[in-house]
Amino acid sequence: MEDNSYVVKMNGNGVNENNSLNGVNGKGSVSKSKQKSRRQRWNIRPSEISINTLNPIRAIVDGMKLSPNPGKPMIALSIGDPTVFGNLPTDEKVTQALKDAIDSHKYNGYAPSVGYQKSRDVVANFYTCPEAPLEAEDVVLTSGCSQAIDLAITVLCNPGDNILIPCPGFSLYKTLAVSLGIQVKLYNLLPEKSWEIDLQHMESLIDDRTTCLIINNPSNPCGSVYSKEHLQNVLSVASKNCIPILADEIYGDMVFPGCKYQSMASLSSDVPILACGGLAKRWLVPGWRMGWILIHDRNQIFGKEIRQGLVHLSQRIMGACTIVQGAIESILNDTPQEFYYRTLSFLKSNSEICFSELSTVPGLTLVLPAGAMYLMVGIEMEHFPEFQNDVQFTERLVTEQSVFCLPATAFEYPNYFRIVVTVPEEMMMEACARIREFCQRHYRPCSQDSNELDQ
Ligand SMILES: Cc1ncc(COP(=O)(O)O)c(C=O)c1O
Repeated sequence: MEDNSYVVKMNGNGVNENNSLNGVNGKGSVSKSKQKSRRQRWNIRPSEISINTLNPIRAIVDGMKLSPNPGKPMIALSIGDPTVFGNLPTDEKVTQALKDAIDSHKYNGYAPSVGYQKSRDVVANFYTCPEAPLEAEDVVLTSGCSQAIDLAITVLCNPGDNILIPCPGFSLYKTLAVSLGIQVKLYNLLPEKSWEIDLQHMESLIDDRTTCLIINNPSNPCGSVYSKEHLQNVLSVASKNCIPILADEIYGDMVFPGCKYQSMASLSSDVPILACGGLAKRWLVPGWRMGWILIHDRNQIFGKEIRQGLVHLSQRIMGACTIVQGAIESILNDTPQEFYYRTLSFLKSNSEICFSELSTVPGLTLVLPAGAMYLMVGIEMEHFPEFQNDVQFTERLVTEQSVFCLPATAFEYPNYFRIVVTVPEEMMMEACARIREFCQRHYRPCSQDSNELDQ
């Protein structure tokens, strides 16, 4: 049967019959009370949800005075979009798949709100494994991983509930949660343990309104990749406290040669997991806006209701572009392994350049990343007394050296900055040399250090 519920009935003159002046009281005349309550003047206010929706990156970057040194070309190490410099194109098979989908003329219409059955099947087959089997019904296609995260948070949490998110962590979690009236609690990551989760701290934050634990592995902004043992420990905390996990695995499998990635779901025997992913990073096409939720629920804890909830939420906006849905079979199945290997070798090499150039710079501390596209650099602020914080430090780095790195205050982690390692190699080297020069110029030994030197 055709669903006409969205059709607004028109009366031939282009006037909505349900709301025409004649139809307001059903008798063809406007009632007196309606007349009285008519507004006398315009008063349009932004909604609470719009006021409460804040992207901290924009707030911080827009507030910075960024005036580059005219003598040095600008190098932006701040943008998490691997396509901006043109040095990391996607594979030809991926572009060809999209061209074929367009030429087929089969994907110009609306798909079901959760995605075409066939495309969901392809994603399920790509990610299924004996430990965490998936079928088409377990997949919801979305507009990028961002929408997947949005749906996952929205289906699990009510206003007044709280979610646990990593610190430092990707800012979208907080942006989405706060706009929905959901409280966020930040659990610490430990730089001295390659950015592993402080599990004790995480567990101490759980209370009876905690409805979701967000784990981002591999991590933005840290570039860390968790070991199997660490993920099992995270699962134990979730299991003990009966909290579901939202696993943000947009960088899943983006680990450097020699390192192993394990999905959260492949290790879980009981904890229900919504794993969010997409094409953006691994296939280097963030603009194509294709993401997904993989529902892992072997013990039927989410049950029908959470699945149904996701279907309902997906109907608010049909998320995933149908042309990309048409191309996804070929994208997932035909992209050659060398493409992934080439990208990851490049990211590894750039990370190593950055690490070896900067870890010997006085006043900076680094942890070598194992995946994703980022590296966090700690600033020993006591050695840079001219600057009060990471925002001032990175602002002046632009003024003097025309290098822009995102201050980690944007990730709720002051006194660090994040470097994106997708830039061309020569640019990476040049940027590191300029950061070194900047630090050497502003570094001051602490008074305690100078006493030691005096002795
Ligand atoms: C950790 C993390 N999750 C999710 C996303 C969003 O991905 P998408 O562009 O597919 O919405 C990003 C994008 O940078 C990210 O870094």
